[in-house]
Amino acid sequence: MEATRPLRVAVIPGDGIGIEVVDAALPILIEAARSEGVELRVTELDWGGDRLLRTGEAMPVDAIDVLRQHDAVFLGAVGHADLAPDVSVWTLTLRLRKELGLYANVRPIRVWKGIDAVVTGAEGSDVVIVRENTEGEYTGIGGRVHAGLPDEIATDVVVHSRRAIERVARYAFDLARARGDRLTLATKSNVMPGYRLWDEIVLALGREEFPDVAVETNFVDALGARLVQRPTTLGVVLAGNMFGDILSDVAAPLAGGLGMAPSANVAPGDATPGVYEPVHGSAPDIAGRGIANPIASILSGAMLLRDSGLETAAARIEEAVAVALLQDEGRTPDIGGRGTTASVARTVDAALRATSTLS
Ligand code: NAD
Ligand code: IPM
Ligand code: MN
Repeated sequence: MEATRPLRVAVIPGDGIGIEVVDAALPILIEAARSEGVELRVTELDWGGDRLLRTGEAMPVDAIDVLRQHDAVFLGAVGHADLAPDVSVWTLTLRLRKELGLYANVRPIRVWKGIDAVVTGAEGSDVVIVRENTEGEYTGIGGRVHAGLPDEIATDVVVHSRRAIERVARYAFDLARARGDRLTLATKSNVMPGYRLWDEIVLALGREEFPDVAVETNFVDALGARLVQRPTTLGVVLAGNMFGDILSDVAAPLAGGLGMAPSANVAPGDATPGVYEPVHGSAPDIAGRGIANPIASILSGAMLLRDSGLETAAARIEEAVAVALLQDEGRTPDIGGRGTTASVARTVDAALRATSTLS
């Protein structure tokens, strides 16, 4: 048999529970790849808050070049307890998304058996949020003047470009077509002209290139309610950067909560490595207690393997998660279980090995 090339994965555990969930999830990725005959070649990177406090930089100057020598990046979460939240996000997560040009943030939410329903009527729903990941409300342009005075003002400059809207919309349409789903655009064009540009571009693209995909717009406030009340009426949801951020946390309870929501930051069509990370953050309120739910991280790892061509390994991880969630030790307290981060990882690993074809 021809030797398969190793999969080079850069691993950035980050801060808080990011470190704990990556520690639990990574061996499962390695095992799933190994059992398909592929070596996961891991580069562990100590980037994040501790490194920043020690050296003044969260990442080395050649960080992006280092990542480009890998096939994919597996990220925990950022948000260091001793740093302001904006420092943590702007020195790592947002730099990776922008500097690697990862224009689509893909956030699937599926419903699992064995978890007490947080949202009723969610059974059968299968929603994927596709979020623009490089601009919108996240430009970092803005500032404050007249500090402390009655006429102090702050600005955040929001940018929507035709180029960025078109490329992420095309990705979302392709996905909707492949899944046989409708495409719902989250908008606020009743108030903001920037979202009128989104409406125009997306509806025109639908007419001209994707006439077979049903497309609709939905004001984002009403869409938030629809997501939790009638999620089965949705398939692919396309959103700008901040709406996508908010909607993906709003949707997470459909799957049981933030500990169950994976994501992929990708640049389809480019050779750039994607960054795979849970939707959740560093959860300082539970960090260090060994109870962080590692499933979102494990499922992000499955997305990494799928995008790397290891469909079988990815599907086997998802099946192992489904099996683990039916067991007490396979569920952390946030989803009504009595397990720990480590016991969930052990349970998923055991389920995975039970279906392995290699010894
Ligand atoms: P958070 O997602 O860290 O936590 C929100 C709530 O969900 C908390 O009660 C937390 O305990 C719970 N939770 C999250 N993940 C969980 C898991 N795996 N298992 C069990 N419970 C879980 O959001 P926050 O508290 O608003 O932010 C904390 C820090 O993380 C901030 O510094 C923020 O900027 C950062 N953040 C980073 C990312 C990221 O790296 N992608 C995402 C969101 C927030
Ligand atoms: C997420 C997070 C990030 C975001 C932060 C950490 C920059 O909340 O991945 O959802 O706002 O996009
Ligand atoms: Mn978020």
